[in-house]
Amino acid sequence: AAGVEAAVEAFGEGSPVLVHDAADREGETDLIYPAGAVTPEDVSRLRNDAGGLACIALADEVAEAFDLPFLGEALDHPASADHELGYDERSSFSLPVNHRDTYTGITDEDRATTITELAAAAENPSGTDFADEFRAPGHVHLLRAAPDLLADREGHTELGIALAAAADREPAVVVCEMLDGETGGALSPDDAKAYADRHGLPYLEGSEIIDRLG
Ligand code: 5RP
Ligand code: CA
Ligand code: ZN
Ligand code: ZN
Repeated sequence: AAGVEAAVEAFGEGSPVLVHDAADREGETDLIYPAGAVTPEDVSRLRNDAGGLACIALADEVAEAFDLPFLGEALDHPASADHELGYDERSSFSLPVNHRDTYTGITDEDRATTITELAAAAENPSGTDFADEFRAPGHVHLLRAAPDLLADREGHTELGIALAAAADREPAVVVCEMLDGETGGALSPDDAKAYADRHGLPYLEGSEIIDRLG
Protein backbone atom coordinates (compact mmCIF):
# COMPACT_ATOMS: atom_id res chain seq x y z
CA ALA A 1 0.00 0.00 0.00
CA ALA A 2 3.00 2.33 0.40
CA GLY A 3 3.15 2.02 -3.36
CA VAL A 4 -0.37 3.37 -3.72
CA GLU A 5 0.27 6.31 -1.40
CA ALA A 6 3.44 7.33 -3.20
CA ALA A 7 1.72 6.97 -6.57
CA VAL A 8 -1.24 9.09 -5.42
CA GLU A 9 1.15 11.78 -4.24
CA ALA A 10 3.12 11.77 -7.52
CA PHE A 11 -0.12 11.78 -9.51
CA GLY A 12 -1.36 14.76 -7.50
CA GLU A 13 1.74 16.64 -8.59
CA GLY A 14 1.10 15.86 -12.26
CA SER A 15 3.22 12.75 -12.72
CA PRO A 16 1.92 9.89 -14.87
CA VAL A 17 1.38 6.50 -13.19
CA LEU A 18 1.50 3.09 -14.89
CA VAL A 19 -1.44 0.82 -14.03
CA HIS A 20 -1.77 -2.85 -15.02
CA ASP A 21 -5.44 -3.80 -14.72
CA ALA A 22 -5.34 -7.61 -14.12
CA ALA A 23 -4.00 -10.68 -15.88
CA ASP A 24 -7.56 -12.03 -16.17
CA ARG A 25 -8.99 -8.81 -17.57
CA GLU A 26 -7.33 -6.88 -20.44
CA GLY A 27 -3.87 -7.67 -19.16
CA GLU A 28 -2.80 -4.20 -20.27
CA THR A 29 -0.76 -1.47 -18.62
CA ASP A 30 -2.00 2.06 -19.25
CA LEU A 31 0.06 5.21 -18.81
CA ILE A 32 -2.31 7.47 -16.84
CA TYR A 33 -2.02 11.26 -16.42
CA PRO A 34 -4.08 13.83 -14.58
CA ALA A 35 -5.60 15.58 -17.61
CA GLY A 36 -4.74 19.08 -16.42
CA ALA A 37 -1.02 18.30 -16.40
CA VAL A 38 -0.75 17.09 -20.01
CA THR A 39 1.53 19.06 -22.35
CA PRO A 40 2.26 18.47 -26.06
CA GLU A 41 5.46 16.67 -24.91
CA ASP A 42 3.30 14.30 -22.88
CA VAL A 43 1.12 13.55 -25.92
CA SER A 44 4.35 12.75 -27.78
CA ARG A 45 5.25 10.31 -25.00
CA LEU A 46 1.81 8.68 -25.30
CA ARG A 47 2.36 8.18 -29.02
CA ASN A 48 5.96 7.06 -28.87
CA ASP A 49 6.33 5.26 -25.54
CA ALA A 50 2.78 4.02 -24.95
CA GLY A 51 1.48 3.61 -28.49
CA GLY A 52 -2.13 2.68 -27.69
CA LEU A 53 -5.24 4.78 -27.99
CA ALA A 54 -5.11 8.06 -26.06
CA CYS A 55 -8.41 8.49 -24.22
CA ILE A 56 -9.70 10.75 -21.49
CA ALA A 57 -11.81 9.29 -18.73
CA LEU A 58 -14.37 11.52 -17.03
CA ALA A 59 -16.18 10.86 -13.75
CA ASP A 60 -19.80 9.80 -14.18
CA GLU A 61 -21.18 13.04 -12.69
CA VAL A 62 -19.12 15.12 -15.12
CA ALA A 63 -20.27 13.04 -18.09
CA GLU A 64 -23.85 13.35 -16.80
CA ALA A 65 -23.55 17.14 -16.53
CA PHE A 66 -22.42 17.28 -20.16
CA ASP A 67 -25.03 14.74 -21.31
CA LEU A 68 -22.30 12.47 -22.71
CA PRO A 69 -23.70 9.05 -23.67
CA PHE A 70 -22.01 5.69 -23.86
CA LEU A 71 -21.12 5.38 -27.53
CA GLY A 72 -22.53 1.86 -27.67
CA GLU A 73 -25.95 3.24 -26.70
CA ALA A 74 -25.73 6.31 -28.92
CA LEU A 75 -24.88 4.44 -32.12
CA ASP A 76 -27.80 3.29 -34.20
CA HIS A 77 -26.05 0.62 -36.25
CA PRO A 78 -26.22 -3.18 -36.17
CA ALA A 79 -22.49 -3.32 -35.34
CA SER A 80 -23.25 -1.86 -31.91
CA ALA A 81 -26.27 -4.08 -31.21
CA ASP A 82 -24.21 -6.83 -29.59
CA HIS A 83 -20.86 -5.53 -28.44
CA GLU A 84 -19.50 -8.83 -27.06
CA LEU A 85 -16.41 -7.75 -25.13
CA GLY A 86 -14.27 -10.67 -24.03
CA TYR A 87 -13.00 -9.00 -20.84
CA ASP A 88 -15.85 -6.92 -19.44
CA GLU A 89 -19.60 -6.43 -19.54
CA ARG A 90 -19.41 -3.15 -21.39
CA SER A 91 -17.10 -0.62 -22.93
CA SER A 92 -16.68 2.79 -21.29
CA PHE A 93 -16.38 4.65 -24.61
CA SER A 94 -18.32 7.87 -24.99
CA LEU A 95 -17.91 10.41 -27.80
CA PRO A 96 -14.59 11.27 -29.44
CA VAL A 97 -14.10 15.07 -29.31
CA ASN A 98 -11.84 17.97 -30.27
CA HIS A 99 -11.71 21.37 -28.61
CA ARG A 100 -13.05 23.99 -31.04
CA ASP A 101 -9.75 25.90 -30.89
CA THR A 102 -7.97 23.01 -32.63
CA TYR A 103 -7.47 22.64 -36.38
CA THR A 104 -7.27 18.94 -37.37
CA GLY A 105 -7.29 17.81 -33.73
CA ILE A 106 -4.62 15.12 -34.01
CA THR A 107 -1.34 17.00 -33.53
CA ASP A 108 0.39 16.92 -30.17
CA GLU A 109 -0.52 20.62 -29.69
CA ASP A 110 -4.14 20.04 -30.66
CA ARG A 111 -4.62 16.98 -28.50
CA ALA A 112 -2.95 18.68 -25.52
CA THR A 113 -5.36 21.62 -26.01
CA THR A 114 -8.39 19.31 -26.10
CA ILE A 115 -7.14 17.40 -23.04
CA THR A 116 -6.34 20.42 -20.86
CA GLU A 117 -9.61 22.12 -21.83
CA LEU A 118 -11.46 18.93 -20.86
CA ALA A 119 -9.67 19.05 -17.50
CA ALA A 120 -10.82 22.64 -16.99
CA ALA A 121 -14.36 21.70 -18.03
CA ALA A 122 -14.38 18.74 -15.61
CA GLU A 123 -13.33 21.06 -12.81
CA ASN A 124 -16.25 23.38 -13.50
CA PRO A 125 -19.12 21.54 -15.21
CA SER A 126 -21.79 24.10 -14.30
CA GLY A 127 -19.69 26.88 -15.81
CA THR A 128 -19.10 24.99 -19.07
CA ASP A 129 -21.24 24.90 -22.20
CA PHE A 130 -19.81 21.64 -23.54
CA ALA A 131 -21.06 21.89 -27.13
CA ASP A 132 -19.91 25.49 -27.30
CA GLU A 133 -16.36 24.38 -26.47
CA PHE A 134 -16.02 20.93 -28.04
CA ARG A 135 -17.03 19.28 -31.29
CA ALA A 136 -17.71 15.59 -32.02
CA PRO A 137 -16.44 13.54 -33.72
CA GLY A 138 -12.87 14.38 -32.82
CA HIS A 139 -9.52 12.81 -31.96
CA VAL A 140 -9.63 12.42 -28.19
CA HIS A 141 -11.81 9.52 -27.09
CA LEU A 142 -13.92 10.25 -24.04
CA LEU A 143 -14.53 7.43 -21.57
CA ARG A 144 -17.32 7.54 -19.00
CA ALA A 145 -16.57 6.03 -15.59
CA ALA A 146 -19.13 3.89 -13.78
CA PRO A 147 -21.16 5.79 -11.13
CA ASP A 148 -19.79 3.78 -8.19
CA LEU A 149 -16.34 3.49 -9.73
CA LEU A 150 -14.48 0.36 -8.59
CA ALA A 151 -17.56 -1.16 -6.98
CA ASP A 152 -19.17 -1.19 -10.45
CA ARG A 153 -16.30 -1.82 -12.86
CA GLU A 154 -12.56 -2.44 -12.58
CA GLY A 155 -11.31 -0.91 -15.84
CA HIS A 156 -8.54 1.63 -16.34
CA THR A 157 -11.37 4.17 -16.68
CA GLU A 158 -12.41 3.65 -13.04
CA LEU A 159 -8.88 2.96 -11.74
CA GLY A 160 -7.75 6.30 -13.19
CA ILE A 161 -10.68 8.29 -11.82
CA ALA A 162 -10.16 6.66 -8.39
CA LEU A 163 -6.51 7.80 -8.46
CA ALA A 164 -7.61 11.33 -9.38
CA ALA A 165 -10.12 11.43 -6.52
CA ALA A 166 -7.55 10.17 -4.00
CA ALA A 167 -5.07 12.76 -5.24
CA ASP A 168 -7.66 15.55 -5.11
CA ARG A 169 -7.20 16.20 -8.83
CA GLU A 170 -9.84 17.17 -11.38
CA PRO A 171 -12.08 14.18 -12.30
CA ALA A 172 -10.47 13.76 -15.72
CA VAL A 173 -7.52 11.49 -16.56
CA VAL A 174 -5.74 10.52 -19.75
CA VAL A 175 -5.18 6.80 -20.27
CA CYS A 176 -3.22 5.11 -23.06
CA GLU A 177 -2.22 1.47 -23.41
CA MET A 178 1.46 0.59 -23.43
CA LEU A 179 2.21 -1.66 -26.38
CA ASP A 180 5.39 -3.61 -27.08
CA GLY A 181 7.25 -1.81 -29.88
CA GLU A 182 8.56 -5.09 -31.23
CA THR A 183 5.62 -7.48 -31.04
CA GLY A 184 2.76 -4.99 -31.12
CA GLY A 185 1.15 -6.91 -28.27
CA ALA A 186 0.43 -5.55 -24.81
CA LEU A 187 3.66 -4.56 -23.05
CA SER A 188 4.34 -7.25 -20.45
CA PRO A 189 4.06 -6.30 -16.76
CA ASP A 190 7.82 -6.89 -16.37
CA ASP A 191 8.65 -4.59 -19.26
CA ALA A 192 6.15 -2.00 -18.02
CA LYS A 193 7.80 -2.10 -14.56
CA ALA A 194 11.22 -1.71 -16.16
CA TYR A 195 9.97 1.32 -18.13
CA ALA A 196 8.55 2.82 -14.92
CA ASP A 197 11.85 2.28 -13.10
CA ARG A 198 13.88 3.76 -15.96
CA HIS A 199 11.75 6.90 -15.91
CA GLY A 200 11.22 7.16 -12.16
CA LEU A 201 7.46 6.64 -12.46
CA PRO A 202 5.13 4.72 -10.14
CA TYR A 203 3.80 1.33 -11.31
CA LEU A 204 0.68 -0.16 -9.71
CA GLU A 205 -1.38 -3.29 -10.05
CA GLY A 206 -5.10 -2.62 -10.35
CA SER A 207 -5.64 -4.86 -7.31
CA GLU A 208 -3.51 -2.52 -5.15
CA ILE A 209 -5.74 0.41 -6.12
CA ILE A 210 -8.91 -1.63 -5.52
CA ASP A 211 -7.69 -2.80 -2.09
CA ARG A 212 -6.64 0.67 -1.01
CA LEU A 213 -9.11 3.02 -2.73
CA GLY A 214 -11.98 0.76 -3.80
C1 5RP B 1 -9.42 2.42 -24.64
C2 5RP B 1 -9.32 1.13 -23.95
C3 5RP B 1 -8.47 1.03 -22.75
O1 5RP B 1 -8.38 -0.29 -22.31
C4 5RP B 1 -8.69 1.97 -21.61
O2 5RP B 1 -7.85 1.53 -20.58
C5 5RP B 1 -10.11 2.13 -21.09
O3 5RP B 1 -10.80 0.93 -20.99
P1 5RP B 1 -11.08 0.09 -19.68
O4 5RP B 1 -11.72 1.01 -18.66
O5 5RP B 1 -12.05 -0.94 -20.18
O6 5RP B 1 -9.79 -0.52 -19.19
O7 5RP B 1 -9.68 0.11 -24.48
O8 5RP B 1 -8.25 2.51 -25.41
CA1 CA C 1 3.21 16.93 -17.63
ZN1 ZN D 1 -7.93 -0.59 -20.24
ZN1 ZN E 1 -7.59 -1.40 -23.99
